[in-house]
Amino acid sequence: MAEIIITNSEDEAGEIYAKCVADLIERKPDAVLGLATGSSPLAAYRQLAKEVKARNLDVSRVRGFALDEYAGLDPAHPQSYRSTITRTVVEPLGLDPDKVRVPNGNLETIKDAGREYDAAIEAAGGVDVQILGIGTDGHIGFNEPGSSLQSGTRIKTLAEQTRIDNARFFDGDIDQVPTHCITQGIGTIMKARQLVLLAFGEGKAEAIKETCEGGISAFCPASALQLHPHATIIVDEAAASKL
Ligand code: GLP
Repeated sequence: MAEIIITNSEDEAGEIYAKCVADLIERKPDAVLGLATGSSPLAAYRQLAKEVKARNLDVSRVRGFALDEYAGLDPAHPQSYRSTITRTVVEPLGLDPDKVRVPNGNLETIKDAGREYDAAIEAAGGVDVQILGIGTDGHIGFNEPGSSLQSGTRIKTLAEQTRIDNARFFDGDIDQVPTHCITQGIGTIMKARQLVLLAFGEGKAEAIKETCEGGISAFCPASALQLHPHATIIVDEAAASKL
């Protein structure tokens, strides 16, 4: 069963993540961080940048693997997850960009990209701490409802609701939101040694209820966290309101 922490603010939640990751980097300077996009982890990255500075940590050997990427979107596009991870994590933390990988959404090579990505994570010794957001339909990474709980990194079709939710990043125009993605599988995510899922606001309350109290099922991909030996779910009062 995952540990659930209810906090007063995104910053307070971010501090918990930041302390945990800063302690990890102190112990293991070449730590492997699992990174996520979306708005939920932003305060956590800001707090981690503060903590790194306050403790004067050397992050030059820290490695990172992002969860997912849109398929067929130029990595230089401002809304590609490559650009987003660079802007929100690599630059503020001062990580070595060559040590941070994002799945390759190039359509010509995408067929083999998933297997190669999982092999690269394994070769790095696995992810130490994976940060996660959650979609309103309970997805993690881009593993939409119905995804196999054993899945590896692979190409997926985006659910209509996810494209609607993410249209805000594409001038509110759903037609600009890619239809496919490459995402770490639920099986890939579950191999990380520690999982920290962050969720804030009323809109996530139903997904959090299903994740924590529903049956473990592919209908709510995040419910797999119930099976992880070291998973922490950090929410605010609003996201916890249906628990
Ligand atoms: C996208 C990402 C997910 C993220 C979700 C929720 O679909 N692929 O990793 O968890 O959005 O985003 P937000 O945190 O902005 O609500």
